[in-house]
Formats: sequence, structure tokens, C-alpha cells
Amino acid sequence: MTVAAVTAGEAPAGPALNVSRVNQFYGQSHTLWDAGVVVPPGACVCLMGRNGVGKTTLLKVIMGLLPPTSGTLMFGDKPLAPKRPELRARVGIGYVPQGREIFPQLTVEDNLRLGLTVKGGGEIPARVFELFPVLRKMLGRRGGDLSGGQQQQLAIGRALASGPALLILDEPTEGIQPNIVHEIGDIIIRLNREGLSVLLVEQKLPFARRVADTFCIMDRGHTVAEGKMADLGDDLVRRHLVV
Ligand SMILES: Nc1ncnc2c1ncn2[C@@H]1O[C@H](COP(=O)(O)OP(=O)(O)O)[C@@H](O)[C@H]1O
Ligand SMILES: [Mg+2]
Repeated sequence: MTVAAVTAGEAPAGPALNVSRVNQFYGQSHTLWDAGVVVPPGACVCLMGRNGVGKTTLLKVIMGLLPPTSGTLMFGDKPLAPKRPELRARVGIGYVPQGREIFPQLTVEDNLRLGLTVKGGGEIPARVFELFPVLRKMLGRRGGDLSGGQQQQLAIGRALASGPALLILDEPTEGIQPNIVHEIGDIIIRLNREGLSVLLVEQKLPFARRVADTFCIMDRGHTVAEGKMADLGDDLVRRHLVV
């Protein structure tokens, strides 16, 4: 069957992202212990856990920004090559890092264009401005002049510019005003309903429950629990999430 013959709503075979038994060290410090996460096609999975358990480290390994000492990383039926972050966007993974990491001295337009360089340039998709109208209004402004919420929208817009099949977001609501947090939630839900697979790191429990359908909990470098968000009970929350 050709790709074009797949009708809307029909899930492709195999998981979108399947990461298993990842071990990683910072120097002598063993940080990830056989950690993993699975994102089925079209799912929205929330990677959860307290500060310092290794969520960002696992995302960086997935993005090829950190080398694991062992582990299997598959995107669809293809292995993700280690230490080749530029290939991630090309195969269809968009990444919104923790802390946003936009370029404050560059204009909004140039920040968005950086999301296109992996595809060899082209126009910023109209879709980005449809989702984030504020970015069109601020195209000529410097990234650093935007509010925290607008910078987060810019970081998401940049990740979407390359047209990914999987969007990875690391704490997109961190340090952002509540009204923008809700808007970002709406956008993630909308993108996911349209077929984009999502892997989200999020510490705000109500936000995670609203946006994601599945959870994957980490504790001290280990993956300790996975399941349907509707089944995330008080016991797991007390043991692994609340501080
Ligand atoms: N660049 C680094 N060098 C050394 N240790 C690090 C580095 N980054 C993170 N760590 C440590 O690795 C552990 C996991 O960090 P991180 O993945 O950022 O956790 P999380 O995202 O779950 O808060 C923490 O103990 C943290 O202090
Ligand atoms: Mg983190």
C-alpha cells in the first residue's frame, strides 16, 4: 500500500517512537538506567517525574544531543543515528527544548527560518501564523523583546516549521502566565487531534491530564510506570510526582 492510499484516521503500523533500555552517564554519574518511552502514532504521551530524574536527559538522547552508552532508539521502522541532531528534523521530529532556546538577538522571522534550514529553506508555512497569529504581528521584532509566553509560541512555531510527524516539548508551560498556558494546551490538543504525535514533558498535573492520553513516569533515572492518563491514580502521584 502506498502512503497516499492511507486514509485519514487510519493509524500507520508500528510505533512512531520506540525508545528502550537507554543508559547514559554525565562523566562518572550514571543518569539514565534502562530508561525508555514509547509514543504510538497519533498519541500524546506525557513523560513525568520530579526535578532531576532525567527527563530532559532522555529527550536529549532521543534528539541525538547526548550520546547514550547503550539503548535502542527507533522512529517508525528506522533507527535514530547517534550524535546526528540535524537528522532528527529531516526524518520528522520537531523539538521544543526546555527554556525555549530562541535566539534573542535574531528577529522572530529569522528564528522561524532556523526551523526551515533542515529542509533546505523555503517559506515559513502559513500554518505557523494560523496557530500563532501573534508571531506574524511580531515578525520584525527581536526574539528577546517577546514575552515568555510569546517566546514559547515562537519555539513551538520554529519546531513546526519543518512539518514534523512527532513533536517533542520539554516543559512548555514553565514560567508562563496561566492564560498563555491554557492557549498552549489548546494548540497541543489541536495538533494532536490533527494527527501529530506528541511527547510532552510536563510537571503541572492538571495540564498533563488535560493534554495527554498516556503517561510515562521516571524516577531517579528509571522508567517506573506507564499507562493511560485516566488510570494515573493518587498512589503513583504521591510516590513519584508530588514533592
Ligand atoms: N550537563 C550536565 N552535566 C552533569 N550532570 C547533569 C547535566 N545535566 C543534568 N545533569 C544531572 O542529571 C540529572 C538529570 O537531569 P535532567 O535530565 O535535567 O532532569 P529533569 O529534566 O528530569 O529535571 C540531574 O541530577 C542533573 O543534575
Ligand atoms: Mg528537565
